[in-house]
Parts: sequence; structure tokens; C-alpha cells
Amino acid sequence: MAANKKLLILPGDGIGPEVMRQVRRVIDWMDRRRSVTFDVQEGLVGGSAIDQHGVPLSDETMADAMGVDAVLLGAVGGPKWDQMSFDKRPEAGLLRLRKEMELFANLRPALVFDALVDASTLKPDIVRGLDLMIVRELTGGVYFGEPRGIEDLANGERRGVNTQVYTTSEIRRVARVAFELARKRSRKVHSVEKANVMESGLLWRQEVTKLHQEEYSDVELQHMYADNCAMQLIKAPKQFDVIVTDNLFGDMLSDEAAMMTGSLGMLPSASLGAETGGKRRALYEPVHGSAPDIAGRDLANPIATLLSFAMMLRYSFDMHEDAGTIERAIENVLNGGMRTADIMGPGMARCSTGVMGDSILRELDKLSA
Ligand code: IPM
Ligand code: MG
Repeated sequence: MAANKKLLILPGDGIGPEVMRQVRRVIDWMDRRRSVTFDVQEGLVGGSAIDQHGVPLSDETMADAMGVDAVLLGAVGGPKWDQMSFDKRPEAGLLRLRKEMELFANLRPALVFDALVDASTLKPDIVRGLDLMIVRELTGGVYFGEPRGIEDLANGERRGVNTQVYTTSEIRRVARVAFELARKRSRKVHSVEKANVMESGLLWRQEVTKLHQEEYSDVELQHMYADNCAMQLIKAPKQFDVIVTDNLFGDMLSDEAAMMTGSLGMLPSASLGAETGGKRRALYEPVHGSAPDIAGRDLANPIATLLSFAMMLRYSFDMHEDAGTIERAIENVLNGGMRTADIMGPGMARCSTGVMGDSILRELDKLSA
């Protein structure tokens, strides 16, 4: 029997706890049925950590995150904590996890389930069969660049500053992840920046080109400006396979790609660090936020978080079969017409978070009977 797999679950704020509850049910289901068991610790992050400990991520929870095989996070943030300074806001907890765990590569797949083709705001033909992967740089760029801050000027004005900055090694390591992924997919990478106006974008283009020539000439590489990419994603998303881009553009383009799948409630993500000694630090989280407007009402779509858990099984534990079973269970439930409010369509059966969880568990039972 394999050694227990150590997980840290950080439900966070808003709908985080209620969607994570459905993951716990799947973990319990797996524990009951399989030769694998998970050692699950829970912790606080974001607003819930601020309320309890006065900080968005305590040193203890940070240490726990460093000690486990994988972290699964719900969502952070909410209006209650919106007035706090950047270093004390809920988001700072998530950014600290990303930074200290050195999770430089954020994988955000956008996959359109056949059953949800009509839930997309785009025409069915444009999105049917869409399967693309955004690789977002996650520990650099304008999110972390110095100097930053808001200062008072002598003339009574104020000045806000952020710095967009990238180094060779930061660009190369995330580009490498994209090229490697492309080799397992359709061998096509779009590298996205604004090399026409930004030095950091120009450097990005040069370094990606160099790495491509040195090691990945079997992969097709195209460069694209970020604004054009935003447009092309809406116009003809199926031209893309793997998109690699910086932290800020990746944040925006992944929300855009998410909507093609019908709802932000469908999109999982994996944030990966460097591989050392056969292990790599990893955090999995849905792309959606804490959705305070619907929190606590059993309305949220738990699928993005369940798919994030499936990504964890795949990328951290090589449990491809189990990941596939969960993905298939979700697909079957969608094919059966079950819909949370965000993906509701004509003639479908509207259900709550909990009932979506029930249906997926029932499907898991069927698939493994
Ligand atoms: C995301 C979110 C975060 C980000 C926020 C919550 C800090 O939008 O993961 O896409 O901007 O990276
Ligand atoms: Mg975002």
C-alpha cells in the first residue's frame, strides 16, 4: 500500500468552503474505496485567516504548506476586507503561498464539455471541442515587481507605482513548462506579450525564441501581442493549444478563456514549482474567486474545484486513472442535464452545490461498480 499522500486544504472565503466540502466528500469516497488514503490537514487563508489570526496567512499555515505533497485552495477575498492595505488583504495570503512555494508555472486549461457548448456566450461552432492550456507565469512580473507603492507628491497629487520586471531565468523556466506540455499535446505554443511597447515584453520574446531554437524546435512557436491574443481568443479560440504568458496578461486571458467554457465555475488550475528530487511543490485552485454575492447559499458550482482536485491527482500523484474517473463522472452528470445556476440552460435541471456533489458521487459509484 502506497504511503499516505499529504494534503493541505485551505477552503478560504466566500464560496470556498462550500465548494471544498464537495471535494472532501470525493476524498472520503476515495478513502473508502481505494488503496490510497490521504492525510488531510485543513488551514485558514485569506479573510478567514485575518479574522482568526490577524494575517491572511499565518507562518504556521505557510510551514504546513511547505511540508505537504500538495495544497488545495478554495478562494480568497470579499468586501469585508476590501479596505485593508495590500499586504494585509486576503489576496496577500494567496500571493505569499505562490511566492514562497515558488509556484512559477500556473496551468489553466480551458476545456469545453460537449454538454455545455450552449452555455458559452460564443456560438457553438466557435467553442465546440475547445481544449487549450494557458501557462501563466505566477511569481514575477507586475504582481511582485519593485518599486511599488502610492506616494504623496509635493504638488498635492498622489502617484501610484508598480513595476513590470522579468529576468532571463524567470522567462525560460516558465517557457520550458509550456514547451514540455505542448509536446504532450499538439506541439504548438503561442507566446504572448507586448513586445511592441514594453522592454520586459521584448526580453520575453527574445528569451522564448532562444530557448525554442536551442531545445524545442520540434514545437511550433508563434509570438502574439496580448491585445491581439485577447481578440483572437474570442474570434477563433481553436487556433490555440498552449499559450504561455506573463502574470498579469495570464490573469486576464485566463478569465477570458474561462468564459468560453460557459462559466468561471468550470475552470481548474494547477500552480507548479521546480522539480527537485522527483518532487515538485504544487497548489491547486479553481480559477474563480470567492463570489461573495452567492456565498453560503448552496448555489456555487463545485466543478472547478473538483477538477482542480483531479488535476492534483494527475500532476502531483500520477493517479491518471482516478483523475480520469472524476472527470468522466462530472461529464456524465453534465450530460444528464444537471446544472448549477451559472451554467443553467433551457430544459436543464437546476441544482444546488450539494445536489451537484450528490450526483457526481452517485456517478463515481456507477463508474467504479
Ligand atoms: C487569480 C486571481 C488572483 C490573481 C487574485 C485573487 C489575487 O484573480 O488567481 O486569477 O490575480 O492572481
Ligand atoms: Mg484572476
